[in-house]
Amino acid sequence: MNLKNIYLFAFLITALFFSCKQNSSTNNQSEIRNNEVDLYESISQQYEILYDSVQQKKDSKYFLPRSIKNGQIRYAEAYDWTSGFYPGAMWYLYDLTGKNLWKERALEYTKKLDSVQYLKSIHDVGFMIECSYGNAIKFDNKQGYDSIIVQTAKSLATRYRPKAGIIQSWEPILHFEEGEWSCPVIIDNMMNLELLFHATEISKDSTYYNIAVSHANQTLKNHFRADYSSYHVVDYNTETGEVIKKSTHQGSADESAWARGQAWGVYGYTVMYRETKNPIYLEQAKNIASFIKNHPKLPEDQVPYWDYDIEITQDTPKDASAAAITASALLELCNYVDNALKEEYMTWAKTIIESLSSPAYLAEIGTNKGFALMHSTGMFPANSEVDSPINYADYYYFEALSRLKKIDTISSN
Ligand code: GLY
Repeated sequence: MNLKNIYLFAFLITALFFSCKQNSSTNNQSEIRNNEVDLYESISQQYEILYDSVQQKKDSKYFLPRSIKNGQIRYAEAYDWTSGFYPGAMWYLYDLTGKNLWKERALEYTKKLDSVQYLKSIHDVGFMIECSYGNAIKFDNKQGYDSIIVQTAKSLATRYRPKAGIIQSWEPILHFEEGEWSCPVIIDNMMNLELLFHATEISKDSTYYNIAVSHANQTLKNHFRADYSSYHVVDYNTETGEVIKKSTHQGSADESAWARGQAWGVYGYTVMYRETKNPIYLEQAKNIASFIKNHPKLPEDQVPYWDYDIEITQDTPKDASAAAITASALLELCNYVDNALKEEYMTWAKTIIESLSSPAYLAEIGTNKGFALMHSTGMFPANSEVDSPINYADYYYFEALSRLKKIDTISSN
């Protein structure tokens, strides 16, 4: 750790400590803001390094930084499920730093995903387009992008299977090694629903809204166990609508609680409550949050191991991405609950952000190939992206910082 990082870390810890206090003075609030600005500046410098590398891949089909493999940046194409996170991270850098340069770059890389709106072969178009074009609309409303949201929702809606009431996640053939899935739906699919609500808001066509509600209801019914932990994959019979099998693809076992799956769940049901105000979804989000928070294997720093049901050794990898997704979800969820729970969620989210912003997870400037966070786990069973930086960890960490910044700004006014 260099001196600059020690300095930033010390400042951040102080800032987060003071911002957790109920009666912090105006002076403290302005100190917090200055210190957070230092953190945003440091992340911005780190992403300059990543951007420099990315420029060398400008003309390649694989041009989006995804993670690190064998010491080199692993690049993805526009049709990779993670394609929205790099432009999305730059949109949040624009929001955090106010630098136009990040807006220009975010826009440039958002536009490169134009053809994704027509993609019908995977469910991930919600991630891909909402994190890129969705943020473009949020941070720099340009005419023409609304139609991209609606076209993407049309593409996603082709994957809706009415008898089962769900959106099919994957094509069975792609995942043959787990057996003969018919119509697999993964918990991650909850994250694609925000795009459908956005499309209904723009087009006034309730088809997309209704599909999102049906998918969320079926997932609530079929993906969760009594303790509110979630299966990763549920396979449906599209003729009868019955559940064929519950299993996993990225977790340690069919009956285990894969860490990122739990994070997708709490985030997904928080969005469902925001968009529908149905209290069932709020209860679900709160219950998933409780499962995570009370889990005996959740480490003190609140950054989980990659699965909650594995034996922990000193070599067990963590998943910083699951922590970042959870922190961001909690910073929204705290707006919908009573004051006691609000304080609990805020304090918890700040603890997670404090951990992620420490040298244990936040890379020293100039290391980590320019990614911000270290120590995420993509898919442990396939030995893929294990204990690695991954673009979606950065994306949700930046989103959490952006949400925290807005909360701190409101509370200090
Ligand atoms: N949606 C894939 C993952 O979370 O790894």
